[in-house]
Amino acid sequence: MKRIQSIAAVMAGTILFFSILFSCKREPVFVGELPTGPVDSTGIVDTTPVYVNEHPCDPDSVYFGAQVLPILASNCALSGCHDVQSHKEGVILTSFDKVKATGGINLNSPTNSKIYKSLNASGGDRMPPSPYSALTADQKAVILKWIQQGAQNLTCESGCDTTNVTYSGSVKPLLDLKCKGCHGTTNPSGGIKLTNYDEAKIVALNGELLGTINHESAYIPMPYPAGSAKMPQCEIDVVRIWIEDGAPNN
Ligand code: HEC
Repeated sequence: MKRIQSIAAVMAGTILFFSILFSCKREPVFVGELPTGPVDSTGIVDTTPVYVNEHPCDPDSVYFGAQVLPILASNCALSGCHDVQSHKEGVILTSFDKVKATGGINLNSPTNSKIYKSLNASGGDRMPPSPYSALTADQKAVILKWIQQGAQNLTCESGCDTTNVTYSGSVKPLLDLKCKGCHGTTNPSGGIKLTNYDEAKIVALNGELLGTINHESAYIPMPYPAGSAKMPQCEIDVVRIWIEDGAPNN
């Protein structure tokens, strides 16, 4: 009986010893190389861009760089008007700082801001002046809302979509916002109009559209003038995808 008891005591002790030993926290020890993922032997490389949208845009906020500056840059900051060199009436509309400093923004009375009032002025005071067309009601509304929200320089990631690219749904809105002011029907810059499908198709197929927005060396970089921010990569990809599809009228 004594013997059985002592065997049991030894066994219990042994179990306790090993359970303590193995419950000790130990740093994992890593020896050798990290395992590599499966190797693609098909030769097909998936180049579909993946966008991680960490700062999604709030539909109720106005984003200066994405929504306001393109309107001003292509409708107001033209050579002879409100670019840095011409600065008509001291107004320069080429960047956030310049717009804030020279645009006569009135946060207490947004509709009395100089840049906004000029959009609705009559006769020769209207901006852009005739023969350029007035801004659209939507464009004016964006500018007013931006001032009403404090004329801030907010940024966000638009989550620009590279699936289901079409001319009407993807490419035309970009050209309307970022190019049409200078490449409209009146005095189109460089003689190039970008107001409709037929006009866009010409530069799509001769390489100028992608070459200019992608800042390829043989082309004049767009948006203009030199030094303007390049379009976001996702937007360039949208245009590229459309052109690679054959620039269809869809
Ligand atoms: C602020 C005015 C302005 C804006 C905005 C602008 N352009 Fe231009 N663009 C010009 C001027 C000016 C020229 C002629 C430049 C020259 O000949 O030196 C030009 C020339 C071009 C050319 C011919 C380039 C070449 O290499 O011959 C293309 C194509 C073009 N623009 C496309 C675009 C596209 C696409 C956009 C929109 C993303 C755009 N532009 C936005 C002013 C503008």
